[in-house]
Amino acid sequence: MFREKDEKIWKIARPHLDVRNNDEHTVVAYHLAQRLLELHPEADPEVVLPAILLHDTGWKSVPQDKLMESFGVKKKYPELLIQHEKEGAKIARKELARMGYDAAIIEQVADIIDGHDSTLEAKNINDAVVKDADKLWRFTPHANSIICQWYDVTPLGVIDIIMGNSIMHLLLPESTVMAHAFMEIVRAQEALPHYLPTLVKQ
Ligand SMILES: [Fe+2]
Ligand SMILES: [Fe+2]
Repeated sequence: MFREKDEKIWKIARPHLDVRNNDEHTVVAYHLAQRLLELHPEADPEVVLPAILLHDTGWKSVPQDKLMESFGVKKKYPELLIQHEKEGAKIARKELARMGYDAAIIEQVADIIDGHDSTLEAKNINDAVVKDADKLWRFTPHANSIICQWYDVTPLGVIDIIMGNSIMHLLLPESTVMAHAFMEIVRAQEALPHYLPTLVKQ
């Protein structure tokens, strides 16, 4: 669940997140970030959690007819991927300042959002937690069914795609363990009808 103070950020972020399943993605990434924060007490939740809530707010500024070709396997417009990072950082600066957040926190949050997708190295542990929580979503069964629709591929096809790139870019060892566990759930779900032919797929 969100912390009470993060509910307020969520209310502000949400109207920016109703494209490309970003709203659902953000809720799941937030929960994954909380688990990584438990494992990394040296990371600062006051930076990580606002950064997660606001990191993809910039996608709404991208021309919507080009959005699905601005990231991932069909990426044709890398400049729009950069635009979503810059715009997200701008929104974070503006909204967190309006909410009275400390200037030092705002700078750290904006600095993480700017580059969260296009850079692979982490600047610090907070950045690493945000980067991994963001990417880890792709491995979850939740993301799997969404990505199947995005690219018209099967659940195992999604695993092939993300194993090809995202797994390499996870930064924290715990994230790799989590990613493999999530993929195993997808594989098990796909195997269920083989072992239980009478099972009706929901
Ligand atoms: Fe992003
Ligand atoms: Fe994201």
